[in-house]
Amino acid sequence: MLSLVPLLGACEPAKVAAPTGGMSDTAIGGEPDTGEPETGNPDSGPPETGNPDPIDTGPLDTANPWDPDTLAGAGWLRGRAIGAALSTTAFAKDEAYLSLFSENFSSLTPENATKWGLLQSESSTWDFSDAEGMVELAVNQGMAVRGHTLAWHNQLPDWIDDDSMAETFALSVQAHVESVAAWDDGRIETWDVVNEALEDDGSLRDSIWSQDLGSEWVADMFVLAHEQLPHAALFYNDYSIAWLNTKSDAVYAMVEQMLADGVPIDGVGMQVHVSAGSAPEPEDLAENIRRFGDLGLEVHITEMDVQMRDIAGVDDARLFAQARTYHRVVSACLEEPACTSISFWGFTDRYSWIDDHYGADDPLLWDEDLQPKPAHHAVMAALRGEPLPGCGEEFITNGDFEKGTDGWTSSWGNTIEATDRYETWQGVVQDITHLVAEGIPYEASAWVRLDGADSDDVSLTMSIVDETETTWPHIMDTTAYSSGWTELSGTVT
Ligand code: XIL
Repeated sequence: MLSLVPLLGACEPAKVAAPTGGMSDTAIGGEPDTGEPETGNPDSGPPETGNPDPIDTGPLDTANPWDPDTLAGAGWLRGRAIGAALSTTAFAKDEAYLSLFSENFSSLTPENATKWGLLQSESSTWDFSDAEGMVELAVNQGMAVRGHTLAWHNQLPDWIDDDSMAETFALSVQAHVESVAAWDDGRIETWDVVNEALEDDGSLRDSIWSQDLGSEWVADMFVLAHEQLPHAALFYNDYSIAWLNTKSDAVYAMVEQMLADGVPIDGVGMQVHVSAGSAPEPEDLAENIRRFGDLGLEVHITEMDVQMRDIAGVDDARLFAQARTYHRVVSACLEEPACTSISFWGFTDRYSWIDDHYGADDPLLWDEDLQPKPAHHAVMAALRGEPLPGCGEEFITNGDFEKGTDGWTSSWGNTIEATDRYETWQGVVQDITHLVAEGIPYEASAWVRLDGADSDDVSLTMSIVDETETTWPHIMDTTAYSSGWTELSGTVT
């Protein structure tokens, strides 16, 4: 019997391979009947996944202002706001987009509408109309708003001129924050005060902000924001800081110092623009969130999206890889009480900044036709404390020879029943390329029992074919016997 199962917990699917072995006839398949090892039962269901944070749906449920079958409602039951960035153009013209957003989210981030360059495109003119429409929607629907962002080196007004402004920049910043505060009028509960002030190496980014306002500019912005927006929770937001790395260490040191100096900061936003193959490990992310929480800060996942254009494999498996990434990040947030809000940078592939900035992609939870993707189901499952859909499900439908040998071939170029095998590495083979995607770990398992020899060496191997070469990594090597069944198993990526 051969199985290919997405692993649970971290949920990783697996893969097949052909058991190969000694020159004696190697029987593969059939239910293990005697001498079954204690370590596993090929028919056992998915392993238990622990739910570290049991959901108490008691009294809360009746008060849930959101439908519990939506992200907002499922998030509410876990005490988390679930949000998305809203596109100005889609907001203005796409009704289906807007109703999907209204039904599913409890937090709104204007994707661009509250950035300085959009609010004050001429030095003498302020235009809050796009932002106003979004804030009114949120207020009417009882959603939280994440104001984004008071200070950023991108999307500044064109009239801000790096070279000639040193004197007046501080005044312009002051006027900007005052105008925003007057318009906001206490409606926006959270502001990303400063966005992306640090470089990847943890140093202060060289920008008009650091040049004109000095090395303490980040702390100064929080002081100014607190003066003008006394009711708002004030966040520092950045990318590449969901991992435990040099940059997140630098953010940690910076906010720790700010707190020691009495600077009013309430939280850290982790953007989490990732690809399915490069997301933080859940344990690292949780530990990282925890250390900010231990400082007394909140953490928000602020801009999550999961690119998949560089993931090789069949579409279903690529969507699974993406869904798995969403599931792992959302689950890590739910493990940590400090992580109180999860926002995606958009919600439908119909509108995503990734396509314009990096290349055609489908990084979000609903597809271009506004249909929910596996990524959406994965986020729902994570919010409900459930494993990733598809995890623990058998990928190989005909792993058991007693059900027939469809899909199997032999590596000696004949039917698997034929006895013309002549090399020890030869084995029975199943092609699984139609099941798998790059970067996902799979749990592969095969049970073997010898016929014709008391014992011999056997291997479960993979054949990985890419453009330049073929490799045959061994998943497991062991000894098989005629007296009982032996399991070969391992994780392969
Ligand atoms: C992006 C918007 O999505 C795009 O529409 C715009 O052209 C550029 O900015 N990090 C941030 C967001 O903090 O403000 C960025 O938003 C995406 C990266």
